[in-house]
Amino acid sequence: MSDDAGTKTHFDLIVIGGGPGGYGAALYGSAAGLDVAVVEMDKVGGTCLHRGCIPAKELLETAHVFRTVGEAARFGVESSAPTLAFGTTMARKAEVVGTLFKGLSGLLKSRKVTMFSGVGTLQADRSVVVAGLDGERTQITGDAVILASGSAPRTIPGFYVDGTRVLTSDEVFELERLPARVAVIGGGAIGCEFASMLADLGSEVTVLEALPQILPTVDKDVVQTVLRSFKGRGITVQTGVQVTGHTPGSTGTTIHIDGAPDLPVDAVIVSVGRRPLSDTLGLDGTGVLVDERGFVEVDELCRTAVDGVWAIGDLIATPGLAHVGYAEAILVIKQLLGEPAIPVDYAKVAWCIYSRPEVAFVGLSEQAARDAGHDVSVAKHRWGGNSRALIIGDGEGMVKVIAEKRPDGSAGELLGVHMSGPWVTELLGQAYLSVNWEATVDDIAHFVQPHPSLSENFGEAVLALTGRSLNS
Ligand code: NAI
Repeated sequence: MSDDAGTKTHFDLIVIGGGPGGYGAALYGSAAGLDVAVVEMDKVGGTCLHRGCIPAKELLETAHVFRTVGEAARFGVESSAPTLAFGTTMARKAEVVGTLFKGLSGLLKSRKVTMFSGVGTLQADRSVVVAGLDGERTQITGDAVILASGSAPRTIPGFYVDGTRVLTSDEVFELERLPARVAVIGGGAIGCEFASMLADLGSEVTVLEALPQILPTVDKDVVQTVLRSFKGRGITVQTGVQVTGHTPGSTGTTIHIDGAPDLPVDAVIVSVGRRPLSDTLGLDGTGVLVDERGFVEVDELCRTAVDGVWAIGDLIATPGLAHVGYAEAILVIKQLLGEPAIPVDYAKVAWCIYSRPEVAFVGLSEQAARDAGHDVSVAKHRWGGNSRALIIGDGEGMVKVIAEKRPDGSAGELLGVHMSGPWVTELLGQAYLSVNWEATVDDIAHFVQPHPSLSENFGEAVLALTGRSLNS
């Protein structure tokens, strides 16, 4: 039942779940000399590697290539209109995932992390029982246990996931052909990424969002740029709508929307958030507390109610992001090592959405800053004046910087940076560090960005907040 467990049954640390949180803890812990066991019921890499971030971004890259070839004539590069070999697309996605999986498995092995295959449950005495797929049960003990069993897609009443008409993100990655007409229920990160990808590959897409705005936590001005792009590419976005059910037909299905016409489609993607997978951990009677939504309750240091048991990643009610899982893993390992540990500042984590245009943000939107009582100074810079954006031919979106307005009217600390447009998911790094280091406008404006580069747009936006500007 175990991959390489041998006869060893006691470890410094047992991690249940081998996604980014769990393998992050195993890698960081083993690098610091801890003897670590990981219990995984599927494959290490978790949702992120197998059914989330990695395959999604790989398919979005295919959409990018398809679009680039389709638009190549404007650079004077003539070719016939591109066609999509969907089988090859999915095979490449599988190859990228496979390569990363192999690399991760090798890394864990080289760090001497002991792998157990099976379902791990926590016992009242804090030991862990691993039920292997072959029925074998093994009991192991650890000085510490990290629960990192992750999450699964949520669905909504009336939308039973059948894998053909009704899909979640899990099923989208297994599609055999591109659906011609798609409805995406939920306009969050997953919904917008799939809508963008499918539309660029040729599907007719409608996004149905219950709230008044898609990407609800993103700055309104930035969302407007996404909406403009979506509209220009034929993606219909309906906000403030209630989906009441659907009636399957011989091939597709017809979606019913309260107060709006029925919507016939070939497939529906339900992307209304994810639910924590705490029910597989056998937590009843262990003393570990679970809230009414299924999240394991922890304090700011990721400690559960049971001494020596920690929980991280999508299993706890913090942003459901792989890199938040990594941060929480490091936080816990530092405590195990007796080192100073600084809680994760969840209000200032990096958010990246890989749609077209890309969206990336850190910190407060303008509205959220005002709602929090800040007097704010704001600079908005579109890409039209940025030479690199013009060169690469991608000028959708904007960089918006939100700073505290001091009593003397000058702009002070950066409160948030919200961006859309070319490569902003990569550009966010500077903004992420600036906001987290509590930098002021003057601190950042002092530095000059390379020319020509996309990063100039961030530099220019911050410089403008000093009251003077350069290229804009
Ligand atoms: P989400 O919570 O980000 O968005 C769900 C959206 O669905 C919300 O806008 C919500 O208002 C809407 N919604 C909920 N119920 C609805 C209903 N009945 N009808 C219509 N709309 C409804 O969840 P999402 O997009 O499924 O992502 C799940 C998790 O994965 C999130 O934690 C997200 O942060 C993470 N993720 C992050 C990505 C990234 O950072 N690039 C990419 C994909 C996922």
